[in-house]
Amino acid sequence: MSLNINSTVKLNNDVEIPIFGLGTYLAEQGKQAEDAIQIALEAGYKHFDTASFYFNEESVGKAIRDSSYDRKELSVTTKLWNSDHGYENALTAFNKSLKKLNIEYIDLYLIHWPVEGRRKESWKALEKVYKEGQCRAIGVSNYTIMHLEELLSECEIKPTVNQVEYHPFLYQKDLRDYCKSNNIILESYSPLTKGQRLHDEKLGKIAKEYNRSPAQILIRWNLEQNVIVIPKSSNKNRIIENSKVFDFSIKPEDMERLNSLNENYRCTWDPTNIP
Ligand SMILES: NC(=O)c1ccc[n+]([C@@H]2O[C@H](COP(=O)([O-])OP(=O)(O)OC[C@H]3O[C@@H](n4cnc5c(N)ncnc54)[C@H](OP(=O)(O)O)[C@@H]3O)[C@@H](O)[C@H]2O)c1
Repeated sequence: MSLNINSTVKLNNDVEIPIFGLGTYLAEQGKQAEDAIQIALEAGYKHFDTASFYFNEESVGKAIRDSSYDRKELSVTTKLWNSDHGYENALTAFNKSLKKLNIEYIDLYLIHWPVEGRRKESWKALEKVYKEGQCRAIGVSNYTIMHLEELLSECEIKPTVNQVEYHPFLYQKDLRDYCKSNNIILESYSPLTKGQRLHDEKLGKIAKEYNRSPAQILIRWNLEQNVIVIPKSSNKNRIIENSKVFDFSIKPEDMERLNSLNENYRCTWDPTNIP
């Protein structure tokens, strides 16, 4: 597959989102987050992932506004936090995020977590802001197949994206295949396992064979599957390192070796038992 840093994935509403982006969880509001985005823009990143829960939307928005890029060339995702669920609350939260970001529109607005008993009403609010053109696409995060089935059975507008923890140590093949067959794009968060499996011996061996870092192999593993990937770094060298993943590809047999690293390991929350 021939990909470059500007390659996009087409969502089910025909909107295109760059397949590669920068995560910003724990990038501190202010200089740290602004610098990270500026460095990433210089390295060619076009897609930025934030959330109201990250408390850095102002900085993400500022860095986007300060960039020399046309707004249309960049893509910004933010998310509805758990305490903001419900129809009216979600509308208010969306407007707060838009105000904090201080950009004309949000590209992708996601429900951060499938909060029990409240997500249905929240989705209606997302449908409203989408219909009004205040965001280009709406989607979900941390939804299991059960949550997606429920949403698909009751929604007016289908989710475009499901952002979940996804890496070889948590190879959620069934969820990936379910999303694919329902025309929902999978987006990988914590693709680097928050650094917790970067020293895995088998991963290290494969990385050495490709003359790449373990982080680069994990990012490319997602790209090979047409999965959107948003590694986070606030460090200049690592932001650049993580973007150098478009001049090689992983052979099918090595993808299999990586898939076999699965141990259902989660470095974040597990939504499996959320009714
Ligand atoms: N929807 C959700 O519920 C959810 C949950 C988690 C994450 N996310 C999103 O996904 C993004 C990425 O996930 P994440 O932040 O959890 O974890 P991640 O991207 O898997 O890992 C980030 C960690 O790895 C380090 N790192 C980055 N590049 C590295 C490299 N090349 N070599 C070694 N270490 C490296 C970073 O430190 P430095 O910054 O010091 O480089 C940071 O500690 C988040 O930032 C957020 O935008 C969404």
